[in-house]
Amino acid sequence: MTKEEYVRGIFNNIAPRYDLLNTVLSFNRDRGWRRFAVARAGLVPGDKVLDVCCGTGMLALELARAVNPGGQVIGLDFAPAMLQIARRRLAASPPGHLVQLVEGNALELPFADNTFDCATVAFGLRNLPDIKRGLAEMRRVVRPGGRVVSLELAKPSRPIFKQLYYFYFDHLVPFIGRLGIGIDGPYSYLPRSLKGYPHQEEVLQYFRDLDLEGAPYYELTGGIVAVHVGIKK
Ligand SMILES: C[S@@+](CC[C@H](N)C(=O)[O-])C[C@H]1O[C@@H](n2cnc3c(N)ncnc32)[C@H](O)[C@@H]1O
Repeated sequence: MTKEEYVRGIFNNIAPRYDLLNTVLSFNRDRGWRRFAVARAGLVPGDKVLDVCCGTGMLALELARAVNPGGQVIGLDFAPAMLQIARRRLAASPPGHLVQLVEGNALELPFADNTFDCATVAFGLRNLPDIKRGLAEMRRVVRPGGRVVSLELAKPSRPIFKQLYYFYFDHLVPFIGRLGIGIDGPYSYLPRSLKGYPHQEEVLQYFRDLDLEGAPYYELTGGIVAVHVGIKK
C-alpha cells in the first residue's frame, strides 16, 4: 500500500470524529491557530484562494470570511468522507457559499499556473509522501506576489515543555484517539507522522529553495505548531 492510499484510508475512516478529536486533542487551540494562519495570508475581499488538504473545511470557512464579499475559495482534498463533512459545514455556515470543493491530489493540482492570490495548507504537508512537491505545486498555482501559507505541527524545543508535550503526543494522543474512534491505528499514525516531518527550520529552507521570498515562520503555543509564509516572486 502506498502512503497516499494509507493516508486516504485513515481520513475516510476518522472523518465523522475528526473535528471533535481535533478540538479535544488540541485543547481547543486549533481554531485560533487556523485564524492566525488566515491573518498571515494577507487576504482582501475579492481574493481567490486555494486550500489544499482542506479536510472538513474548517480553514476554508475562515478563508471565506477573509475574502468576503466577492472572493472565492477552492478546497481540495482526496478523501471523499472528509469532503462530505466539509460540504455540510459550508452549507450551514455563512459565507460557506464562497467555497467550492474539489476532490483531487495535492501533488498534482488540477489548476493552471498563477491562478490564485494565495494557497494555504493546514495540517496537510506532513501527510504528503513528497512535501517539496506539494509546496512546489502550491507555488505553481499562485500568481507572482501571492502567498503560500502552511500551518503544521512542529517540534517544540523548550526543555520540560518539550518532554511533557512528547509524552502527551506519543502516549496520550493515541490513547484518547482510540477511545474516540474505537480502533487503534489512525491516532498512532499522528505521532509517527510528526517524527517523519522536518523541523520548522528545515521547512523554512524548503520555502527558500522554492524562491518563496520573505518566508518567515511563526511558532505558536510553545512551538507545537508553526506557520510558514512565503511570497512568490
Ligand atoms: C489532518 S487533515 C487536515 C484537514 C484540514 N486542513 C484541517 O485544518 O483540519 C489532512 C487532510 O489532508 C488530506 N490529504 C492528505 N494527503 C493528501 C493528498 N495527497 N491530496 C489531497 N488531500 C490529501 C486528508 O484527506 C485530510 O483530509
